[in-house]
Amino acid sequence: MSAEAKPAVVIARVLLAAGAEPLEERYELRQGGLDATRERLLELVPGASAVVADASVPIDAEVLDAAGESLRVVANFAVGHDNVDLNACRERDVVVTNTPGVLTEATAELALALTLAAARRLSDAERDLRAGRWQGWDPGAYRGLELRGASVGVVGLGRIGRRYAELAGAIGAELLYAGPSAKPEDERELGARRLELDQLLEAADVVSLHAPSRPETRHLIGAEELQRIGPAGVLVNTSRGPLVDEAALAAALRGGTLGAAGLDVYEGEPSVSPALLGAPRAVLLPHIGSATVTSRDAMARLVAENVIAVLEGGEPPSRVV
Ligand code: DGY
Repeated sequence: MSAEAKPAVVIARVLLAAGAEPLEERYELRQGGLDATRERLLELVPGASAVVADASVPIDAEVLDAAGESLRVVANFAVGHDNVDLNACRERDVVVTNTPGVLTEATAELALALTLAAARRLSDAERDLRAGRWQGWDPGAYRGLELRGASVGVVGLGRIGRRYAELAGAIGAELLYAGPSAKPEDERELGARRLELDQLLEAADVVSLHAPSRPETRHLIGAEELQRIGPAGVLVNTSRGPLVDEAALAAALRGGTLGAAGLDVYEGEPSVSPALLGAPRAVLLPHIGSATVTSRDAMARLVAENVIAVLEGGEPPSRVV
């Protein structure tokens, strides 16, 4: 690299203009594009000072070593960072950043939308109408759950879980939560009650997952837990796919041991198991939790702020490692 060469920033896939423009003004940008493969990423990273990844891009020792000693920061275009090997980054003194806060509203609202859609069987009803199966008003058809008066169990009362609880509470749901620590202030403000996970699954009409994906949260919800939620219960997942055993979920929906599910995330994204695609009473979305104009632009801006801060020797606004 010559003395005047700009530092290289690799955008593993794409970054919206709100984030790409400030980076372009300062650095050499190398973009993989939406279809970039792992091989393409490994070709792009040598000599890079920063890598911008997203939830679908694994960043591990191989990528870090391919980038080499120039690499100073991995900026994730997501609040979740389970795609990044944090220890491998620590060992190489590479900073890792994410995008918390700016997607709280968008994701909490989507979780509420999925709750209502699953509780009221919206996907099945619309599919039937579009397929010409609607035979007229039927007092017994598509009877679902009313949120007012229902108990909603929030698993993980972090930023997004708390906002979701607030929205469900505003509709009139009774709030329960489970999580690693008690949150007395939230309990007071929301009127929420803390339970152990198994108790919450038994007690709640709706269970919404807002926990990070870690080895210890893998298949947090499996066959036994689905049974606890029960044939009238609704499961909502807008966090990460691996929290739920997808095969067990498809079987519970087919067997009628779970009432309904609303999902935005899957174990093997972007592929979704045929068993789940064909399961009844499931509302399935393609990982769009943060997909509002406001949120995605703010995420992109925050990615750029993180990269610029690290490359200019400052403290990034949202550092993970
Ligand atoms: C996040 O920010 O973690 C969203 O799921 C987008 O990946």
